[in-house]
Amino acid sequence: MDPSPTTHDHWLVAIIDRVRATTRCDLGQYDPDLLRRRLAERIAEISRFGLRDYLDGLIDDPGECQHLIKLMAVEVSAFFRNPIVFELIDQQVLPEIIDRKKRLGKKEIRVWSAGCCSGEEAYSIAMLIHDQVQGRTQGCACHIFATDIHSDTLEFARRGGYSRERLDTVKLGVFRRYFTELEGRFQVCDTIRDMVLFSHHDLTAPGNATPADSIFGTFDLILCRNVLIYFSQMSQEMILRKFHASLDDEGFLVLGEAEHIHHEMESLFLPLDRHNRIYRKRRSRSRNPQNGMNDQ
Ligand SMILES: C[S@@+](CC[C@H](N)C(=O)[O-])C[C@H]1O[C@@H](n2cnc3c(N)ncnc32)[C@H](O)[C@@H]1O
Repeated sequence: MDPSPTTHDHWLVAIIDRVRATTRCDLGQYDPDLLRRRLAERIAEISRFGLRDYLDGLIDDPGECQHLIKLMAVEVSAFFRNPIVFELIDQQVLPEIIDRKKRLGKKEIRVWSAGCCSGEEAYSIAMLIHDQVQGRTQGCACHIFATDIHSDTLEFARRGGYSRERLDTVKLGVFRRYFTELEGRFQVCDTIRDMVLFSHHDLTAPGNATPADSIFGTFDLILCRNVLIYFSQMSQEMILRKFHASLDDEGFLVLGEAEHIHHEMESLFLPLDRHNRIYRKRRSRSRNPQNGMNDQ
């Protein structure tokens, strides 16, 4: 007999609690329908007899918790994924960031690739910035903080070696400038690798607004593409608030093509290009202590 919804929910909550206690990752923040689907698929795959039996398996084998987390978000990425978005970043977003740095006499560009997967997104943006900074601003440093929840994926990203097929979306000039062949793999050059710092960061973790290594400063650009889609609406909003808090006043946010800022959150982000999911931070309204008026 099928369990009643209440019993079903009880075991679902117990599984979420178990995964949280073992890994600190809160599956309760992911899209609940997606979680149910992934659990059903996994239970069928490993021939368990339902949620309760699967929970027993989780207790016996903590490694299964990690496996379940991995199933929640597809680990797929590509260099310059959605090329038009990268063209727009190259032609509109980066020149504006660089000009602003010049105007303010600041010497550091800070980018966060949140949910960076195997590193292609972070390296792509590093290559674009390297090209631009070389041509426009001498002595401007760039730090790209690239974070993900999976340590093995981060390890792969740090090595920066990719198969030929994974370079299909890289233009020839970029390929020649920034890759070298090494034992059948194509290696991102050290200049670019040195611009990127990979680290573990769980976007759902309470409190931590930014990666631990990046606390001294705000970001000029946050890329969080094809990640929010896996979370519940409430968690998406919580993450967007964290992004808002950690962006520079004029900072940019870029989401994936299937993601957007919901109407209620447009008080935090101004859509610059809705179609390509490019947003600019709106400054929070703050009280001017002199006259009690809002600044903006
Ligand atoms: C589809 S990939 C996106 C990769 C890249 N941003 C892109 O668009 O090519 C989704 C990534 O989100 C990561 N992810 C899932 N849950 C996460 C969480 N709670 N915190 C940080 N990253 C997470 C996954 O590990 C995976 O690498």
